[in-house]
Amino acid sequence: MNTRKKLLIELKKNTDCLISGETLSKTLNISRAAVSKHIAVLKNAGYLIESSPKKGYIFKKTSDLLLPDEITEGLKTKVLGRKEIFYFDCIDSTNNKAKELASKGAEEGTLVVAEQQTAGRGRKGRSWFSETKQGICLSLILRPLIPPSQISQMTLMTAVAIAETLSDLSDIDIKIKWPNDILVNGKKLSGILTEMTMEIDAIDYVVVGLGLNVNNPVNTFNDEIAEIATSLFIETGLNFSRTRIIRDFLYWFEKYYNCAQKDGFTSIIKRWKELSDIIGKNVTVDTAASKISGNVIDITGDGILVLKDNHQKTHRIISGDVRF
Ligand code: BTN
Repeated sequence: MNTRKKLLIELKKNTDCLISGETLSKTLNISRAAVSKHIAVLKNAGYLIESSPKKGYIFKKTSDLLLPDEITEGLKTKVLGRKEIFYFDCIDSTNNKAKELASKGAEEGTLVVAEQQTAGRGRKGRSWFSETKQGICLSLILRPLIPPSQISQMTLMTAVAIAETLSDLSDIDIKIKWPNDILVNGKKLSGILTEMTMEIDAIDYVVVGLGLNVNNPVNTFNDEIAEIATSLFIETGLNFSRTRIIRDFLYWFEKYYNCAQKDGFTSIIKRWKELSDIIGKNVTVDTAASKISGNVIDITGDGILVLKDNHQKTHRIISGDVRF
């Protein structure tokens, strides 16, 4: 553990009284000057620490930033987020960075987080809007032992993990829209972009990218998406700790990921169906080739949407956009 992390732990132990520079310097075995230098760095990183000349320091408030030390504090996973966490104030796309790291051998569980993206990517070449320090942009590097044909199930699994996370956190009615949009009151709260690289017939790595609107206020979204996007703050009027959401998401993701690798995706798809509420609904699906309208009969074990149209013809759709 590095000195700054140890210093934070000491400060957080004493939130109701001042702790002197001398005590900190003795406990951490560093000079008083080093203590005050580390405190300055922590303050710059958004921690609220009050200093009282000659008396010492008192910890007031943790940083709102997605700092790796904040993410790992209280993290309940064994692998995810336990390797390196790469933090960026601003980056083009966390998925791009994660792919670059994965291609250079980054381990499973490596996480990339950013306060803002300048070229966040969505499905089908769309862009993903992210306002600085308000939402979550993260990408997770995985090296799953599953056949490449099961990659779409991984995306459904991610949607289940984020839906579980958000349902635990608040009482808002989270719905999954096939394949992987997370909606509240019909508006999009979160999106998932899964990208894979394979060698011959095995997966080399998967990057799961998650975008989630958390504390974005009303009027935050540009005209293009204002009608269709929402945030946790807009829906609840509350501010949420973004690091806590990341920790909880990693927990749920790891739970389902282990289960999928051991027992397959069946129970996860079952949970997906419960959370999606799409079976039996009349929808139109825009696919690359056409528009297909009909009644949703099923989501198969491999994530395919099965529709029956007005002429009782069954369609099996691998990819598309659903409209209700
Ligand atoms: C979609 O809804 O089409 C998917 C959006 C995925 C956005 C996330 S934000 C973090 C990660 N980095 C990216 O460039 N995209 C994903």
